[in-house]
Amino acid sequence: MLRSYGKAIVLRFLPTSRVAELSSEEQAIYRQLDPARLPQHVAIIMDGNGRWAGKRSLKRFLGHQQGAESVQFVVETASRINLPWLTLYAFSLENNLRRPKTEVNFLMRLLRSYLVDNVERMNDNNVRIAYIGRTHELPSEVQEKMQWAAEATAHNNGTVLTLALNYGARSELVDAVQALAREAAGKGATLENITEADISRHLYTGHMPDPDLVVRTSGEFRVSNFLLWQMAYSEIYVTERFWPDFRGVHLLEAIADYQRRERRYGGLNKRQESDEAPIPDSFLVPR
Ligand code: FPP
Repeated sequence: MLRSYGKAIVLRFLPTSRVAELSSEEQAIYRQLDPARLPQHVAIIMDGNGRWAGKRSLKRFLGHQQGAESVQFVVETASRINLPWLTLYAFSLENNLRRPKTEVNFLMRLLRSYLVDNVERMNDNNVRIAYIGRTHELPSEVQEKMQWAAEATAHNNGTVLTLALNYGARSELVDAVQALAREAAGKGATLENITEADISRHLYTGHMPDPDLVVRTSGEFRVSNFLLWQMAYSEIYVTERFWPDFRGVHLLEAIADYQRRERRYGGLNKRQESDEAPIPDSFLVPR
């Protein structure tokens, strides 16, 4: 990309497209997409691991294990199409508080082994890994591996894979409000001057665009305390498919569906605007 700032010409090298590495099934869907209108940020509520296992008379943990495989498939497809931001809801605050200790411990072990096993592939795919959530409350050995993986992939400039871990959107808002209040008190600023941008800036996602598309697997129509502020104008795509069966091709299907939507952000589309004739006074109901 060539950009001119005054006299200086700045060359910004975008990661080269790796669309040729998509499977033939993925390429068939990718060809239907408009590459200029890809979402910048896709966030996924990965759900249905337990039901996937239950349907096969397997233990729940095997559903999580298979779910970790899906994570890597989806991340690699995202990186091949140059998706800038992919955020996965991997472990909620509620999971931490309400699931049996054995399941929580298993998920922590799975996370560690996922990181250890996949950092090399992240690097091969130019993926940088990051985290949001109250991660300081996770076991220290998990935090160590998280930090190691973040540092080992910090040089990559392709897809940013953000794992939401010990994450809850309401607690994120509490943390943001507390940080904002501290900042305002430090500066002697008045609370009346607080803007939406100030709140966004203090969220864990302050450095990221809001998600354009939120995907939820397993057919549930809930947002489950995920990115509540950030998804104000997100398009939502729900698939019946359980997360362990979700692959890159299904991410591309979700993006194709997203591209068929019309985003209006509370406004009108161009046709509606041009159709708009003055409303005659006689249409107004006298009070
Ligand atoms: C929902 O399944 C999913 C989770 C509790 C967390 C997601 C975890 C993974 C995909 C596995 C590991 C992830 C990484 C990043 C290594 P559920 O147990 O709620 O399913 P159910 O609703 O069918 O019971």
